Amino acid sequence: MTLLPGLLDTEAIRKDFPILDRQVHEGRKLVYLDNAATSQKPRQVLDALNEYYERYNANVHRGVHVLAEEATALYEGARDKVAEFINAPSRDEVIFTKNASESLNLVANMLGWADEPYRVDSETEIVITEMEHHSNIVPWQLLAQRTGAKLKWFGLTDDGRLDLSNIDEIITEKTKIVSFVLVSNILGTQNPVEAIVRRAQEVGALVCIDASQAAPHMPLDVQALQADFVAFTGHKMCAPTGIGVLWGRQELLEDLPPFLGGGEMIETVSMHSSTYAPAPHKFEAGTPPIAQAVGLGAAIDYLDAIGMDKILAHEHALTEYAVKRLAEVPDLRIIGPTTAEERGAAISFTLGDIHPHDVGQVLDEQGIAVRVGHHCARPVCLRYGIPATTRASFYLYSTPGEIDALVDGLEHVRNFFG
Ligand code: ALA
Repeated sequence: MTLLPGLLDTEAIRKDFPILDRQVHEGRKLVYLDNAATSQKPRQVLDALNEYYERYNANVHRGVHVLAEEATALYEGARDKVAEFINAPSRDEVIFTKNASESLNLVANMLGWADEPYRVDSETEIVITEMEHHSNIVPWQLLAQRTGAKLKWFGLTDDGRLDLSNIDEIITEKTKIVSFVLVSNILGTQNPVEAIVRRAQEVGALVCIDASQAAPHMPLDVQALQADFVAFTGHKMCAPTGIGVLWGRQELLEDLPPFLGGGEMIETVSMHSSTYAPAPHKFEAGTPPIAQAVGLGAAIDYLDAIGMDKILAHEHALTEYAVKRLAEVPDLRIIGPTTAEERGAAISFTLGDIHPHDVGQVLDEQGIAVRVGHHCARPVCLRYGIPATTRASFYLYSTPGEIDALVDGLEHVRNFFG
């Protein structure tokens, strides 16, 4: 067994995740290395979901009966947990959505319908980067098409980092919003927030950060980031699917218009017009994902009990080990940073000219689950002239033994394809 400094007690942690005991393909031990796509769920989260439905299920904010009040307390309690988890100055700055994509679409639509000084129009520019997930590209393309705004982006260096050499030309006085990923889902790169925020603040642009691949893996402090919006999703951090978060600065949430209309987001409605509830409710139309939010609260309790700094150290040790072991595989090329510094625990690679789908299939036959394809970040593949990558991604329950299994599995892939 490989022991690395900084590792968590994975033997104990893995007991919390029933699915990790599964066997696949007739007796193969499951090696789950697709955590950037979604994480597995600990018993504590599964129990919280069950308990919610068995004891408390009711609609929130509406009822006068006991269950409605208890369900509301649980749902709003989850908001408190999220606020604390990300060090938000106020719980009212935490908006529940269904995923990070919805959170990012919400920001784009708030700005699209906003009045001055926030409005994005044909005189203004939107800045993103070439390493964004499609969820942080397409909403801005849609907004640019609708408003006539110009969409600009930071390119990438050969080693998978943002090229900020022309930052003053990319972010200008015309820039209204700069939206970028904190940790790339395909390259693993961790981006230099400070430099980008500094320049955005110089020109008075808003900053939106996609923290989907960061929130599950490291301490996240929205005040330290100095952004205006931070989006992430629950299912990558041990919570159920169907729950996402948008954090936004209070005064912005007060000023900006809602995107979806419906029940619960209003103050009064007449046949002619409506007035809106204060944030965050203004942005949560309809029955929200109640059980999912409760599940997110339980996931936060679980992660907090282990400690986000310890999870970060664990994944850093694993990434360092993985980078070293993968370098031993002939013909393997990492797409993204080739050291463990300033990167997350998702590693994309190509293997000679074997198509990643074939790599993924032969690995799967050995029980090893990875993701293959463009990972919803197709511009990155275009930038590096490759059709797709194979991606292994780790989490708090991943072990060095699983990285060894991956390396052995890749050897098998090479032999299989001659
Ligand atoms: N965004 C997820 C991934 O990178 C689905 O796999």
